[in-house]
Amino acid sequence: MQPINLREYERLAESRLDAEVWSYYAGGAEDEVTLRANESDFDRFRLRPRVLADVTSIELSTTVMGEPVSMPVLVAPMAGQGMAHAEGECATARAAAAAGTIMAASSSATCSLRQIAESCPGARWFQLYVRYWDEAERLVKEAESVGYSALVLTADLPRMGNRERDVRSGFKLSRGFHVPNYLDRQEGFQLPSLTWKSLERIRAWSSLPLVLKGIHTGEDAAIAVEHGVDAMVVSNHGGRQLDGAVSAIEALPEAVEAVRGRCEVYMDGGIRRGTHVLKALALGARAVFVGRPILWGLAVDGESGVRHVLEILKCELERAMALAGCPDLSSVSNSHIMRAVDGSQV
Ligand SMILES: Cc1cc2nc3c(=O)[nH]c(=O)nc-3n(C[C@H](O)[C@H](O)[C@H](O)COP(=O)(O)O)c2cc1C
Repeated sequence: MQPINLREYERLAESRLDAEVWSYYAGGAEDEVTLRANESDFDRFRLRPRVLADVTSIELSTTVMGEPVSMPVLVAPMAGQGMAHAEGECATARAAAAAGTIMAASSSATCSLRQIAESCPGARWFQLYVRYWDEAERLVKEAESVGYSALVLTADLPRMGNRERDVRSGFKLSRGFHVPNYLDRQEGFQLPSLTWKSLERIRAWSSLPLVLKGIHTGEDAAIAVEHGVDAMVVSNHGGRQLDGAVSAIEALPEAVEAVRGRCEVYMDGGIRRGTHVLKALALGARAVFVGRPILWGLAVDGESGVRHVLEILKCELERAMALAGCPDLSSVSNSHIMRAVDGSQV
């Protein structure tokens, strides 16, 4: 039976994947407080639907940094997709392109950035880990030359989070899968010495716009704008880094407030329903990224599975907008959301 929602994809994927791979995909850091909060904190916000708004047709298309997308749902960068399906990131890239949206390809992908670029014509962004300066420069230049249209620098991994499911299962990134982008230097993580000043150096390697991923606070959102980032992703890495960190949906309003419209703000973490997307948009996100559900679709049915996951989210978002009285994305606003606990405006 075909799954009808993302939860059903999750259960099916778990039953298909090796326990070790499942733990790597599903797990978060330590007690997984942030992992759970990413999802459950969506319930702390309630929608305020408006009626009689003529919702005969709903327009979901928008732009992200000027690039057209069919909906405000993008594919998050995720390492190791070859463990879900033999075609790995190439299958995901084709599904994203077919859905008319953008995939961010991870530095730690199991397909090279060139293979992913050649697998389909769609727009794509490149997510950078700076493990070694020479390697990072090579990857950025290659990404630009094979047609990636933005760089996504992940800022929340000065070291690996303490992912105890992986410790227990004995899963080791360097042994779990091979990363072609890293050539013969498979070992190593992002440099812990990266700072705001490093952004200048990274920018100088290409003319690609820079998206900073891993913003948790209004303070850092403001600093990021001052450093001229072109966009940012409010994200806690899917609860895989600092356990106990603020959930992404709770962090979003303060980042949006600090940015004051000076660049686009995206978010990721816990998006499992169209209503979650709508809540993020109402809180000021221009678009969201989806992470794990893409891996579930990939594990269940390769490219078609990812396409179906994206299709489900699109249908759910479309219905939610109609029910909330929003015929297009520009009509979604802060007045469509409140805090559940006391009904206050956000
Ligand atoms: C298996 C897995 C691998 C990931 N690998 C990366 C990565 O290589 N680079 C990165 O910036 N984020 C990575 N992330 C984080 C995602 O980009 C994203 O922030 C997170 O998954 C969003 O939360 P969600 O899974 O609840 O949708 C990874 C997440 C998962 C689950």
